Amino acid sequence: MPVDGVCNIQMKSNNFILKGDILQSGKSGAIESRGGGYLVCAEGKSAGVFPGIPEEYASFPLFDYSGKLIIPGLTDLHAHAPQFAFRATGMDLELLDWLETRAFPEEAKYGDGVYARRAYGFLVERLKRGPNTRIVLFATIHVPATLLLMDMLEESGLVCLVGKVNMDRNSPDYLCEKSAAASLDATREWLAANRGARGSGNVMPILTPRFIPSCSDELMRGLSEIQKEYGLPVQSHLSENRKEIEWVRELCPSSSCYGGAYDDFGLFGNGAPTIMAHCVWPEEREIELLAKRGVYIAHCPQSNANLSSGIAPVRKFLERGLSAGLGSDIAGGVHSSIFRAMTDAIQVSKLRRALLGESGAAVSLEEAFYLGTRGGGEFFGTASRVANNASGGKAAGFGAAGSFDSGYDFDALVIDDAELAAPFELSPRDRLERVIYLSEDRHIMTKFVRGRRIF
Ligand code: GUN
Ligand code: FE
Repeated sequence: MPVDGVCNIQMKSNNFILKGDILQSGKSGAIESRGGGYLVCAEGKSAGVFPGIPEEYASFPLFDYSGKLIIPGLTDLHAHAPQFAFRATGMDLELLDWLETRAFPEEAKYGDGVYARRAYGFLVERLKRGPNTRIVLFATIHVPATLLLMDMLEESGLVCLVGKVNMDRNSPDYLCEKSAAASLDATREWLAANRGARGSGNVMPILTPRFIPSCSDELMRGLSEIQKEYGLPVQSHLSENRKEIEWVRELCPSSSCYGGAYDDFGLFGNGAPTIMAHCVWPEEREIELLAKRGVYIAHCPQSNANLSSGIAPVRKFLERGLSAGLGSDIAGGVHSSIFRAMTDAIQVSKLRRALLGESGAAVSLEEAFYLGTRGGGEFFGTASRVANNASGGKAAGFGAAGSFDSGYDFDALVIDDAELAAPFELSPRDRLERVIYLSEDRHIMTKFVRGRRIF
């Protein structure tokens, strides 16, 4: 068993080996396991899983976690940092009313730097201790608070993409940028402050038009120019709620569908790594466009249940080979852990199948584990290539995560599941299933991001 002090000193090198019961989502989608295996971290990247210690790594320090589970870190592809403060309240509303009465009033408070520091402090502490190693976040319209959040996350050691939110219409006066020009200027100011300024390249900007209803055509066109100029990744919301979709149809009558509206502004993939959250009600042509443009879907099952949005057709996304991962959508969802999102994805998929009489299988444990690890983690591989431009030559330190295959960033969780033991022998898959459904933060013994030990 490693002694804490020893770990901290020796692991600074980013070259080490962990021994334990290693599980991951394999390329085929099956769960791969190696009991008593050796997982090699070389310069912050995984060098692979081995049955013994390969000769070339024989000099690396070994940390013995025999009997513990070792799995890739989890990715939250969609969450709202300022909404963490009011999570698990106001869950009796649907999206548009919930935004008006709960989300917007809270987000307005982040114009106050003292409040933002306090509130974001709670969030960052929670994220550090939980099972996610990567998070893609919406901040608010406020530049100082967004930069503050980025600095606080940089300190945490987690890998994050963070967006200053754009909104210049259909928003309350207290949370509405004065004009498209003002919103674009603020975005440039935020990006300028990011150029070369942030520490280890773990935290990078992502362009964040909130959703079509809150962004004027002029703003969307300007954001598309900024996207091309900086090569930024993009995130937004898509086809979440039926009233919202109807509204977008009125706002963009000439677009083929909601996704088509983003596409008409040049903000739907096509060279820009893009995440669209939800996609609960996609039309066939929207699915085709998502596939054609290589857009990532952030499936947020708990939020979709809490806000009565519906159940996304994830089986269809998987069959069509769309890129997808899981999102907590804090505070539409109340749990930040992507273990919880895996469970929710499985459960709502079973309900969808039963209610609609769908013939395909519900989302399996294997698929949920894939979505929460490799599925979302791979977005960071694409994003890092463009984020380098955005940082003015200061490279994004990160690459793809969510797998222990050679070359992936070394994001790992060591989990002590002794408390989840049974009076009979559990298979590796059974142990993983228990961890996904039942584990708590205290079972996470240690967590690595890019080979750095977080705790
Ligand atoms: N659509 C636009 N803004 C939001 C938000 O804050 N949360 C969710 N769930 N959907 C949105
Ligand atoms: Fe959201």
